[in-house]
Amino acid sequence: KPRVFSGVQPTGNLHLGNYLGAVSRWVPIQDQMESIFCVVDLHAITAGFPDAGKLASATREVTAAYIAAGIDPKKSIIFNQSQVREHAELAWIFNCVARIGWMNRMTQFKDKAGKNKENASLGLLAYPSLMAADILAYKATHVPVGDDQKQHLELTRDIAQKFNNDFAARIKELDVGVPNPTPSPELPEDLFFPVTEPMIAGPATRIMSLRDGTKKMSKSDPSDLSRINLTDDAEAISRKIKKAKTDPEALPSEVDGLKDRPEADNLVGIYAALSGQSKQDVLGEFGGQQFSAFKPALSDLAVEKLSPMTDEMRRLMADASEIDAILKTGAEKASAIAEPVLKDVRKIIGFLDVR
Ligand code: TYM
Repeated sequence: KPRVFSGVQPTGNLHLGNYLGAVSRWVPIQDQMESIFCVVDLHAITAGFPDAGKLASATREVTAAYIAAGIDPKKSIIFNQSQVREHAELAWIFNCVARIGWMNRMTQFKDKAGKNKENASLGLLAYPSLMAADILAYKATHVPVGDDQKQHLELTRDIAQKFNNDFAARIKELDVGVPNPTPSPELPEDLFFPVTEPMIAGPATRIMSLRDGTKKMSKSDPSDLSRINLTDDAEAISRKIKKAKTDPEALPSEVDGLKDRPEADNLVGIYAALSGQSKQDVLGEFGGQQFSAFKPALSDLAVEKLSPMTDEMRRLMADASEIDAILKTGAEKASAIAEPVLKDVRKIIGFLDVR
C-alpha cells in the first residue's frame, strides 16, 4: 500500500525553495496517498545545538507553514520527530547496517562539514541513516523532496536492500515480509522494508539563490537577499525580486534558450512553480520581454501566492496551543504505525525481549 513520508528541518528560515520544492507539492499528494509529514527536529541538532527556546519555536513555525500551505491535519499525519522514539532507535540499527564508506560519499556531509571534517559531529555524518529511519519506520514507499535529497534517498534504498538481504532468512522464518512487488535478481523474494521511490519532479526541484544562480537557495546563506523567506512581507518579497541578479538579455521564447543563463532559468522556474505552469508556458507569455517587465509580474505573483500563507502562519504562531495539539495527535498516530514495525525489527535482529 503506498505511503508518503517527507520532512523539513526546523533550522532557521523556511524559504521559497522548501515551499516550492517540497511542502507545496505535498498538498495534492495527501488526497491520493496516506501521508506523513514530519518536522525533523532530531536532524536539526546535527550541525550544533540551537538555543532551546529557538528549537521549539522553529518546530512550531515549520508546523505552521505546513498547515498554512494546505496540509490538512485531518488528512495527513503531522508531528515532530523527537516525539516518536522509534526514529532514533531505528537510526541506531541502521548505523550498523550502513557502511562508513557510504556516508563518506555524501556530498551534503562534505558541504556542511566544511574544511574541518574531523570536527563535525558524528551525528552530521550519520544524518542520512536517521533520514532512512524516518522513512522506513513507516515503511513509506514514496518520498517527495527537492533535488538536493536525491543522494540521501539512494542511500535509504541501499540500507533497505542490505537489511532485506542480510536478514532474508529471518524475514521468511518469521513471516514478516511481503512478496517483492518488482522481482529482481538482486533482491530476495520477500521484503521487510520497501525500496522507496523518490518523487522529485516539476519546475522547482532546485531553486537557486537570488544572488547567485549557481548556488542553491538555502537557509544558511548569510545574505538574506539570497532567499525569499516564508515570513517575508510583500515589501520584502518585491525588494528581493527587484534586486535579484539577472543577465542583460531579454527572456528567450524557448526553454532551450535558458541554458547557460542560470539566473533567468531560476526566475522562470519560480514563476512556473508559483503559477502551476511549465517553464515553456511562462516563456510563451514572457518570451522577448526584458527583466524590467518580468520582475514586477513575478513579484506580484509571489506576493499573491505567499501573502495569504504568511498571514495564516502568523495567526497560527500567535497561539501555540493549536499547533501543539495538532503535533500531539500526529505523534500518537505516527507511533501507532512505527511501534509495530520496530517490534518486528527487534524480532528479526534477535534482541532478547523479557518484558
Ligand atoms: P531540508 O530541511 O534541508 O529541506 C526541506 C525540503 O526542501 C527541499 N529544498 C529545496 N527544494 C528546492 N530548491 C531548494 N533550494 C531547496 N532547498 C531545500 C529539500 O529537498 C527538502 O525536500 N534531510 C532533509 C529532511 C528530512 C527528510 C527525511 C526528508 C529528514 N528526514 C525523510 C524526506 C524524508 C532536509 O534536510 O531537508
